[in-house]
Amino acid sequence: MWRAGVLTIFPEMFPGPLGVSLAGKALAAGAWSLDVHDIRAFASDKHRTVDDTPAGGGPGMVMKADVLARAIDAVAQEGRPRLLMSPRGVPLTQVRVEALAAGPGVVIVCGRFEGVDERVIAARDLEEVSIGDYVLSGGEIAGMALIDACVRLLPGVMGATASSAEESFADGLLEYPQFTRPQAFEGRPIPDVLLSGDHARIAAWRRAEAERLTRERRPDLWAKHHSGLRGKSAGVESIASDNDDGLRPCPRRGVPD
Ligand code: ADE
Repeated sequence: MWRAGVLTIFPEMFPGPLGVSLAGKALAAGAWSLDVHDIRAFASDKHRTVDDTPAGGGPGMVMKADVLARAIDAVAQEGRPRLLMSPRGVPLTQVRVEALAAGPGVVIVCGRFEGVDERVIAARDLEEVSIGDYVLSGGEIAGMALIDACVRLLPGVMGATASSAEESFADGLLEYPQFTRPQAFEGRPIPDVLLSGDHARIAAWRRAEAERLTRERRPDLWAKHHSGLRGKSAGVESIASDNDDGLRPCPRRGVPD
């Protein structure tokens, strides 16, 4: 079973969104497990202190190395990578998510305060991971995002529809626009080509739209795509979105047959 271990000072935040929809059903079905550990339980004083003022001065508080190390050491890791969610980390990509989902699971440390004592990052070999260039108030939501992205890739969690859609865009393009009934919405019709039944034309239209959107919105991805550095080996992954929780029919997803 794929195992997620989470170390946090806010254990009550979990499972949160991971307890509903696709991830929640998979959790209940035993496709993955979640163990949440309260870092505060490893504090040594009666106030259960987990942070202290930064050496050298400055604002905010720093998570203590000794307390966090004890918390990490108490978790049976069994080959799982130890990740520290941090805006300073290496940006998370679908390629990395696929690798994590293919492994035994993750142990996630959720940072809080101004940061984490650098020595515990080194001493426990924590790999810093960011989910984007913005600052959250802590690593918990970032950790949930990472777990969600992994869980949906576990065998049997997601229907075949969405995964085939993903494979069809495994060359680093954004997903093409989707439409469903009604045929006209506030004066906006579904593009004729999608109603033509001509699968080759539909595929060509979707491809052109995916390329247009990628060019307009993500020149960085477009440049990689175009320079021939395609596919997973180059770190360019599918950016196809997926909003299908498997609960309702979604007839237009996927590729033409
Ligand atoms: N903690 C705070 N901001 C974060 C981010 N952008 N990614 C991961 N962890 C974070």
